[in-house]
Amino acid sequence: MIIAIDGPAAAGKGTLARRVAEALGYAYLDTGSLYRATAKKVLDQEIDPDDEQGCTVVALNLTPADLTVAGLRSEEVGQAASKVSAIPGVRSALLRFQRDFAANPPDGKTGAVLDGRDIGTVVCPDADIKFFVTASTEVRAERRFKELREAGEDVIYARVLEEMRERDERDTNRAVAPLKPAEDATVIDTSGLDADQVFEQARDIVAAKQA
Ligand code: CDP
Repeated sequence: MIIAIDGPAAAGKGTLARRVAEALGYAYLDTGSLYRATAKKVLDQEIDPDDEQGCTVVALNLTPADLTVAGLRSEEVGQAASKVSAIPGVRSALLRFQRDFAANPPDGKTGAVLDGRDIGTVVCPDADIKFFVTASTEVRAERRFKELREAGEDVIYARVLEEMRERDERDTNRAVAPLKPAEDATVIDTSGLDADQVFEQARDIVAAKQA
């Protein structure tokens, strides 16, 4: 069983994906962490995020240890991730890992939940269940602002909102694997919902599919 959860930044994909995976006993992959880890190494090695070849080499040499380093969730790394993820070589370097994870979930689990931007459209077009989780830009910026503040980052709301718009624009308009709902995805707008309500909606849809 493969469950694909896509959507823009701070829409609540990660929270939902983690809860669905936990409830069903499935493995969970935050595919954004692959792009963030690539971006972090690119920044640390002072490679230009527009250097396609340099970024692709980094993605090809990514190791599991790179996915757990500190600092992946910073706004700077998020912006750089959105840049490197537009490079076709980077995307194809990371594709196999994601598909392997979906087809052979670790620890003998019988299913996998993947969240990202292109899981239902490109990585796992045959996923059993697809969700597209979204929310208004202002609501998402507010959530990201709180998350960054809680992590101790000295950010201002107006800047977070602006960066959210820039990132949405880049993710939606890139040539390869742009952010968009798969035709067969169920769209959940989380603007007025809390995490429990989102989870309940998704759980009902999963239950109906499994029945
Ligand atoms: O947590 P947040 O939604 O802010 O970002 P993320 O899921 O960690 O993804 C960071 C960046 O990686 C996104 O802005 C996308 O540009 C890119 N990404 C992607 O292109 N494809 C994916 N499957 C996942 C992330």
